[in-house]
Amino acid sequence: MTPQRFLSPTASQLPTTYLASTARYDQMPFRRAGRSGLLLPSISLGLWQNFGEADPIATSQAILRRSFDLGVTHFDLANNYGPPQGAAERTFGQIFAADFKAYRDEMVISTKAGYDMWPGPYGEWGSRKYLIASLDQSLKRMGLDYVDVFYSHRPDPETPLEETMGALDHVVRSGRALYVGISNYSPEQTRESSKILRALGTPCLLHQPRYNMFDRHIEAGLLKVLKEEGIGCVVFSPLAQGLLTERYLEGIPGDSRAGKAGRFLKPENVSQQVVDRARKLAAIARQRGQSLAQLAVTWILRQPQITSVLIGASRPAQVEELYAGLSFPPLTDNEMAEIERCLQ
Ligand SMILES: NC(=O)c1ccc[n+]([C@@H]2O[C@H](COP(=O)([O-])OP(=O)(O)OC[C@H]3O[C@@H](n4cnc5c(N)ncnc54)[C@H](OP(=O)(O)O)[C@@H]3O)[C@@H](O)[C@H]2O)c1
Repeated sequence: MTPQRFLSPTASQLPTTYLASTARYDQMPFRRAGRSGLLLPSISLGLWQNFGEADPIATSQAILRRSFDLGVTHFDLANNYGPPQGAAERTFGQIFAADFKAYRDEMVISTKAGYDMWPGPYGEWGSRKYLIASLDQSLKRMGLDYVDVFYSHRPDPETPLEETMGALDHVVRSGRALYVGISNYSPEQTRESSKILRALGTPCLLHQPRYNMFDRHIEAGLLKVLKEEGIGCVVFSPLAQGLLTERYLEGIPGDSRAGKAGRFLKPENVSQQVVDRARKLAAIARQRGQSLAQLAVTWILRQPQITSVLIGASRPAQVEELYAGLSFPPLTDNEMAEIERCLQ
């Protein structure tokens, strides 16, 4: 049964007193997405966690409002974000209806399909049948006419790439999305997808891989492919879900992602080795007057090829802190070398 909270987006009963800050574009640096016309904020906000059914909607609303006030114009969703699946899009839809309708043309809203969404053979992976039905469902949940970016969330080993890319091309031609992207594709799959999409006339705008100090796999090949293909790069889990912050230096707080013992960050992921590394990195950050979370973002943005750092947040203050971190100077060669030593 649809919970009471989830009225249709247009019937949102949230307070509608929001007026965006007039200073919202004063400080946020924007970067170009590959060889496209689209600029994205250096920090984007993802709704994977903290926008589910059990999360207080007032907090979700406060995070979205504060982010937009700071120049975060890009909001990233997926069909399965919640829990349960679909809940983050419904939460976003309610808040969008209350607060952001007047700002739609100032926002870049993305969603994805690829993971398990509904029972039967058409509820996941990369068929045309699934992708198009899923995007139609997402648009309804969010109360939107179109999304700015629609992603294939993961490569499908069984569906021909031509079919998946053909479906992405179709969602653009049919007006459901303005641009398309791929996520979690290997360098080879990315090159091939890009070729197919270019031939169809719908170039691939973005790739969305994981990237942070603890997971540097994209340096081994993907970044080179993205550069050659002119595809932008929006990186997820820049703080390794919170491990690259000071949150776990003195144990596991009950209100943290690991403390809530969800599926994706478990207490056992907060290992002694991780905490020791975080402590050393935090010391480097302190020498610069930064927090570890701010350093983690500065470190990623050292690469001009990264279009945007896609953060998650459980409260507005976390977004504020990361935004404030953008005004620090770039890392020096010595600081880079010190960080490399910590990561060995
Ligand atoms: N394409 C994909 O397959 C894929 C996969 C995963 C994620 N994503 C996208 O990437 C987005 C971000 O992922 P993520 O949530 O893992 O990113 P993340 O930024 O690495 O982790 C976010 C978590 O770090 C903690 N945090 C954030 N700012 C902090 C600060 N200033 N100080 C201390 N702790 C701080 C918070 O944890 P607490 O809750 O403990 O406060 C927050 O929930 C997702 O929302 C989603 O849009 C995409």
